[in-house]
Parts: sequence; structure tokens; C-alpha cells
Amino acid sequence: MNINFKNRIYGRTKGRNCNRNKNNELISKIEQYKITALNKSDKNILDIGSGYGETSLFLSKTYPNSKIIACDKYIDGHLNLIKKFNNKINNIFIHNGNVYDILDNLKKGKYFDSIWIMFPDPWPKNKHKKRRLINDNFFSIISDFIKDNGNIFIASDLLNYNAQIISSIYKNRHLFTWENQFKIYYNYKDYLIPETKYFKKAVKSGRNPFFITLKKI
Ligand SMILES: C[S@@+](CC[C@H](N)C(=O)[O-])C[C@H]1O[C@@H](n2cnc3c(N)ncnc32)[C@H](O)[C@@H]1O
Repeated sequence: MNINFKNRIYGRTKGRNCNRNKNNELISKIEQYKITALNKSDKNILDIGSGYGETSLFLSKTYPNSKIIACDKYIDGHLNLIKKFNNKINNIFIHNGNVYDILDNLKKGKYFDSIWIMFPDPWPKNKHKKRRLINDNFFSIISDFIKDNGNIFIASDLLNYNAQIISSIYKNRHLFTWENQFKIYYNYKDYLIPETKYFKKAVKSGRNPFFITLKKI
């Protein structure tokens, strides 16, 4: 059964300097690493909004026997990731587009051991908040695709979005346990996880990113 979420995607898909010819070249490079069919029996890890690929690279090295899916609509980010590929990296697969393209095309079932969402676009203006990836519905949709005891990891640095995420976690507490819910445990800097572009941006601006770990019940 296919589930069609029909979610729109907002924001940039390519860098400002990306001309059409260069873009075609990039697309053909990315095609070589395109995501293949997902099997429930594989260890699959989904990096939603992989940006420049720091988290996918980290996951690839940390979990060499897993299939890492780097998912982003921002083509320049994928190109940056591909540049870092070497003969040792053979477990990263790319989806250049909306994460809902992947979910829409999956048959119902539990595919993912973990899902990483590092610094989802904050959309700070009130009129844009409905564009945020993480909302009350998000957890119930994504939960169907996560294996039992699988994890969701979320990093964010905007207080207002953090509050929304926490509220959505609370509303979905029948689906996930929040493993590090005491404030002293959700400082991003205390974890051995990558310093992504948006982590660095947050720190430079004086914000203290938080990191949440959820476990599927
Ligand atoms: C703020 S950036 C963070 C990038 C990276 N994770 C980091 O920490 O540097 C958010 C990324 O999420 C991507 N994104 C937003 N909505 C998405 C969606 N529905 N599916 C896939 N990627 C999405 C954007 O294109 C953007 O590259």
C-alpha cells in the first residue's frame, strides 16, 4: 500500500551560483549514488535534511554495516558530500528531494533503525511556522516507518522551535520515550556528534543547540 502525504517543500534547492549546465553535471553525479530500494531486513538510517553531508559521513563511519540515506533537496549539499566520498565509503545513498518522496513510495512497514534530523529549517516567522518539518503530525507519520526500539535524533537551536518540538513529543508520548529529557542532558556539545554547518552557525550566533534522543515504543 502506498501512502501519499503530498507535503510541499520550501526553501532553496540549489546554491545561488549554480548555473544550468553545472546543475545537470551535478545531477548526473548524484544519480550514481541514488537511493536504491529499501529492505526492512537491512539496517537503514535516514538523515533528513542532510545539508552538506557531515552527519551522513559520520553515520557512514560509525555504522559501516548500515545503509545511510542522505536526504535533502539542496543539490549543492549533496555535491559537497560526494566530493568527500572515497573508496572506503560505499554505504551512503542519496535522495535529492523531499523526504516525503521516500515515505510516499515505501510500502507500509518498519524500515529505519534510526532517523536523524539535524537542525531542521526553523522558519522563525509566525506566518511560515506551518512550513516546519517537525509538527504534531510528523511523529505519527514517521513512527510507522521506524523499527521497534529504533531512535529519532533531533538537533535544533531555535528556542521557539524547540518548544514546539517538545510539545509535539509530549502529544506523541504513546509512540516514543524521550530518553534524555532532563535539561542537563540535552546540550548538543556534550555528545560526540558532528559539528555541522548549522551547528557552527548557531554557536557563532551565541545560541546553544540542543539534542534530543527518542526511542520508539
Ligand atoms: C538548516 S539546514 C540543516 C542542514 C544540516 N543538517 C546541518 O545541520 O547543517 C536544513 C536542511 O533541511 C532540508 N530540508 C528541509 N525540508 C526538507 C524535506 N522535507 N525533505 C528533505 N530535506 C529537507 C533543507 O534543504 C536544508 O538543507
